[in-house]
Amino acid sequence: MKVIILAGGGGSRLFPLSRTLFPKQFLKLNGEESLLAQTIARFLPLVKPADMVVVTNQEYVHLVRTELIAAKAQGAHILLEPVARNTAPAVAFAAKYCLEQLGCEPDEILYITPSDHIIRPIETFTANVRQVIGLAKLGKVVTLGIPPNHPETGYGYIQVGKPFGGGFAVQSFREKPNQQTAEAYLAAGSYYWNSGMFAFTIHCLMDELQAYQPAIYELAESSLAEMTVNFTQMPNISLDYAIAEKSEELVMLPITAEWNDIGSWDAIYDVLDKDADGNAVKGDCMPIECSNTLILGHSRLIAGIGLEDILVVETDDVIVVAKKGESQKVKDLVGELKAKG
Ligand code: GDD
Ligand code: MG
Repeated sequence: MKVIILAGGGGSRLFPLSRTLFPKQFLKLNGEESLLAQTIARFLPLVKPADMVVVTNQEYVHLVRTELIAAKAQGAHILLEPVARNTAPAVAFAAKYCLEQLGCEPDEILYITPSDHIIRPIETFTANVRQVIGLAKLGKVVTLGIPPNHPETGYGYIQVGKPFGGGFAVQSFREKPNQQTAEAYLAAGSYYWNSGMFAFTIHCLMDELQAYQPAIYELAESSLAEMTVNFTQMPNISLDYAIAEKSEELVMLPITAEWNDIGSWDAIYDVLDKDADGNAVKGDCMPIECSNTLILGHSRLIAGIGLEDILVVETDDVIVVAKKGESQKVKDLVGELKAKG
């Protein structure tokens, strides 16, 4: 098995800490290790660093190298995409790299993982992955799913069908539904969130690309060198839209490890340790008579008095103060800032 670690996204939902030049996978949100280093560490019980390929782009290569050292996984491969074209082209590129550079056969299993989640404990996750591998060997496209607890519009939704191999055959997959649809899925009770991790053999991936993404397939049929030169011609599409929404081979195993996408300040609050009043603070902070409040200080003393259900995040140049429960709207703020230039 080769573990393909996707680390080329430029997320902005955790602005002002995450920026295009320093996205979420490089942040140290819940401890001393970045999310990328934690991702690498999660797979070390299963494979050696030489069986890992971190796919990223030139802009992040130094950050990735630093994290490989932090995770004691210097032997991992770094594959640089010429341009970011989202995860389907990134995975096709990685598959080609495995075939050409790592001597993989088409029946080699690729385990695809985002690099910006928190999943724990490692032992439980390792057991989940072993189960996934078993199903991927059967020629399936396998993902891990999470029972949803709110109508999140930023995830993929998996409608489960008949039991299969300890998990379920997937009846339908819908990436990022709108609010109304997400609410209906939650109420239906037969949907899981997609974790964003996928496993399949290279052969299975190529079949799926041939069936549903001929433009990617055609480029993936050429050599790695040609693929690199022509990478700009790749359609910009995630694996979720490209394959998961269309595949007839998709199966889902419920993840039993704790999974958190920590895609918002609210989610960060959830994973951090709290004091007796429910405050989570980092940096030089003084919460006085505050409750259920997140304060992430960076370079200044931050004092809060009588705050309740508030999120405060400070960086060198920006301070964001938000009401708890509203932090998804940070992406609107980023949109407005981008529009302003
Ligand atoms: N190499 C590379 N190149 N990596 C990329 C690129 C790219 O062009 N674009 C994104 N990534 C990486 C990100 O850094 C992240 O680790 C991972 O791929 C997933 O990308 P996101 O942009 O974070 O996806 P998402 O959160 O919107 O949606 C995915 O994850 C959800 C769970 O968190 C989907 O798989 C959803 O279905 C899923 O529910
Ligand atoms: Mg994500």
